[in-house]
Amino acid sequence: MHRPLSSVDIVEVAPRDGFQSIAAPIPTRTKIELIESLIEAGSRRIEIGSFVSPRAIPQMADMGEIAAHFAGRAGLGLSVLVPNPKGAELALTAGMKELVYVFSASEQHNQKNVRRSIAQSIQELSDIHSLIAPNRDIRVRVDLATAFDCPFAGEVPIEAVLSALDRIAAICPTYEIALCDTTGRANPFQVRQRFEVAMSRFDGFRWAFHGHDTFGVGVANALFAHQAGVGVFDASVAGLGGCPFAPGATGNTATEDLVFAFEGGGVGTGYDMARLLAVADRIADLPGASVGSHLRLVPRMRATAAPIAA
Ligand code: COA
Ligand code: ZN
Repeated sequence: MHRPLSSVDIVEVAPRDGFQSIAAPIPTRTKIELIESLIEAGSRRIEIGSFVSPRAIPQMADMGEIAAHFAGRAGLGLSVLVPNPKGAELALTAGMKELVYVFSASEQHNQKNVRRSIAQSIQELSDIHSLIAPNRDIRVRVDLATAFDCPFAGEVPIEAVLSALDRIAAICPTYEIALCDTTGRANPFQVRQRFEVAMSRFDGFRWAFHGHDTFGVGVANALFAHQAGVGVFDASVAGLGGCPFAPGATGNTATEDLVFAFEGGGVGTGYDMARLLAVADRIADLPGASVGSHLRLVPRMRATAAPIAA
């Protein structure tokens, strides 16, 4: 049985999962400034974008310039999402040290998202693993999308998740693995149960939860994952987002809401709430932004007050 951890890593994904939901190009300089502000607010791990086909996601067409700005930044976990070996090669050439490789537990979603079968995606994970294996300072995380629910096929059976994990474990048994609630339709009890089952079966992975707040239970889902022993949580400042390949899904659980919930329970996150909310306001002002978040909307003095004692 895993115990809940007294501090957690929050991975800020607004620059990837969030920005990709905005159709109009965000100026590269604005993206860089916002990422810098997140670092000043205490973000230690940030997914700064994705090396994907610019035809699939035009918003990421300037990924090379953003990576060039941040490559080599010490002491931070700055990652980029890659859907295939070409993306991984581009990321490594740009000097990135952390890759997030994504594929889905649902065959339909994988086809829509990356135009491959699950079997092909697993083969490409193996190719990427071989590519980076000689280079010990490169880290890879696998995002297993639709690990609970698929926008096209409905509930994803846990057997499909365990089967994908079996195949990942055969290639890279010690990677960080995120179970992703791509649609936000998972519920807290299911999240805890799936993590407990997966964690008892695979003891080499480091576990992460990537949640969306579409059904209003994003924070609860993260807290139940934490109860199961998960220590890494993806979140998007201001709740920015909505995946182009998950119709109807809203943004990730808002970073500020997660920080509030964890810090209130004495679980450290490393964030400065006032600064984080200032970034959330700027994100919410981006033209075309679709945002969520509770904390940003409550009176600021109360949002930044010390947590209520236990
Ligand atoms: N980065 C940049 N360009 C890429 C690329 C990458 N990672 N992978 C492929 N391309 C380019 C190819 O060079 C090719 O360009 P060309 O037509 O000018 O020669 C074009 O994209 C098509 O390549 P192909 O291998 O046939 O890809 P595809 O059309 O089957 O698309 C993906 C597959 C994975 C590249 C595409 O679906 C994609 O980028 N999906 C991203 C999905 C995503 O980010 N979803 C949200 C996150 S969950
Ligand atoms: Zn997502």
